[in-house]
Amino acid sequence: MMRKQIAAANWKMNLTLAQGEALLNDLFAIPTELGENQEAVLGIPFPYLTTVKDKLSGKQNIYIAAQNCYSKRSGAYTGEVSVEMLQSIGVDYVILGHSERREYFNESNSMLADKVNLCLEFGLKPIFCCGEALDIREAGTQNSYVETQLIESLFHLTPEQLTNFVIAYEPIWAIGTGKTASSEQAQEMHAHIRSVFAAKYGNAVADSISILYGGSVKAANAKEIFGQPDVDGGLVGGASLIAEEFAAIINSLKK
Ligand code: PGA
Repeated sequence: MMRKQIAAANWKMNLTLAQGEALLNDLFAIPTELGENQEAVLGIPFPYLTTVKDKLSGKQNIYIAAQNCYSKRSGAYTGEVSVEMLQSIGVDYVILGHSERREYFNESNSMLADKVNLCLEFGLKPIFCCGEALDIREAGTQNSYVETQLIESLFHLTPEQLTNFVIAYEPIWAIGTGKTASSEQAQEMHAHIRSVFAAKYGNAVADSISILYGGSVKAANAKEIFGQPDVDGGLVGGASLIAEEFAAIINSLKK
């Protein structure tokens, strides 16, 4: 399988610098295997990006991600962080449209389209999050809901821009709740997402896209979820704050 398998940590708004460094020291002390088509990505708070980037020098297939960026290029936006700033300190990935950003910071599909455009312009790779809330899942309309998120934020892109793109499917009802989607539910939605891209962009583009699952991934369930044919790894919150858990999740990636 050629497309990338990715274990991405999302620390969210947790840990001091000292705690983060201690976590990484513990993580790097545990043997993890990252093959040619596998990556670990650390989604860490803005203030620590440079320090952590320095810590990764000489390590293979481990990258850093910002958890957000602003939707404008530069200027009088006090307190915001631009994509160009992230590029200038060597950030590799940007997590975009996490459900917490959509919910608490009113990020819309069209604002996310602007963020995606800026990331691609500056050579940063988006990890584009999508996923439905519980009421939508209960109404059975999750497929069209997620499809709309993808269409409104990504369907203006060219096939070249979407080749090797990274999507994270995170059902909101499974985030931080300990309630994981079953591996069948994950596979079903991942296959749907891939078919949405295939219908517009063709199979070659759709097959190149890494689709990560997020929502209460932990060492105990990672292998089964990542083992599904259309699941290409995970975006991991709570369990990424525990070195042994995240190391085991890295080691659960498909070869
Ligand atoms: P969780 O978070 O692993 O704590 O459920 C996942 C996420 O929100 O990215």
